[in-house]
Amino acid sequence: MKSRKLPNRIVMSPMTRSRASQPGDEANGLMAECYAQRASAGLIVSEDAWISPMGKGYALIERIGAQRTAIRLSPYGGLFDMGLYADVEETYLYLAQELTRRNLAYMHLMDQRSRGSSPIPDGFLHKFREHYRGTLILAGGMTKELASRHLEDGLIDFAAFGEPFIANLDLVERLRHDWPLLKPDRALSYGGGIKGYTDYPNYQTS
Ligand SMILES: Cc1cc2nc3c(=O)[nH]c(=O)nc-3n(C[C@H](O)[C@H](O)[C@H](O)COP(=O)(O)O)c2cc1C
Repeated sequence: MKSRKLPNRIVMSPMTRSRASQPGDEANGLMAECYAQRASAGLIVSEDAWISPMGKGYALIERIGAQRTAIRLSPYGGLFDMGLYADVEETYLYLAQELTRRNLAYMHLMDQRSRGSSPIPDGFLHKFREHYRGTLILAGGMTKELASRHLEDGLIDFAAFGEPFIANLDLVERLRHDWPLLKPDRALSYGGGIKGYTDYPNYQTS
């Protein structure tokens, strides 16, 4: 991020949408269209794609460079049977400190409150910011107001939106002008085709 100038501080959060072609999990034109529609985001974190069906693996900082590597953490997250534990704060602050030393492109925190799990508690973000000295993105239940407040307070560098980007391909413009946001049809989140994926209108045509 240090070497890149981005047009705004709104990030499209990574979202698995299960539209790859089968067999082979191959990325296709429909997926490209979905991302292209949302290209006004300052940064798009795409869903993952395997280099090849035989090449499912993980790249290392040594191989591709720290500034091409980032990490996502969900402090206090309880999805998929993850439980809270006594030293959760201490654990994440230690991680923050250690990951600062790795000089990654960015750290992406996910507050799982909007996905039905436990929220990041008040005050944690301040402490995390003190321990993590790199570029910080936060996702989870973000609104224009919350994003503006956190950015003004210097708590985050970028605000990431997940679900709002599904139904609002022009989310950046909608937030800029305080235009109303559409709600996505959750039944169409994963799998399927165009419906609920690339057929949402932009504000002017809705
Ligand atoms: C349909 C859908 C798929 C998602 N898939 C992933 C995923 O594969 N990996 C991931 O780290 N987060 C995933 N997320 C979480 C989002 O990146 C984001 O952190 C979360 O939705 C909270 O932000 P929001 O309240 O703005 O939606 C997904 C979210 C949605 C709605």
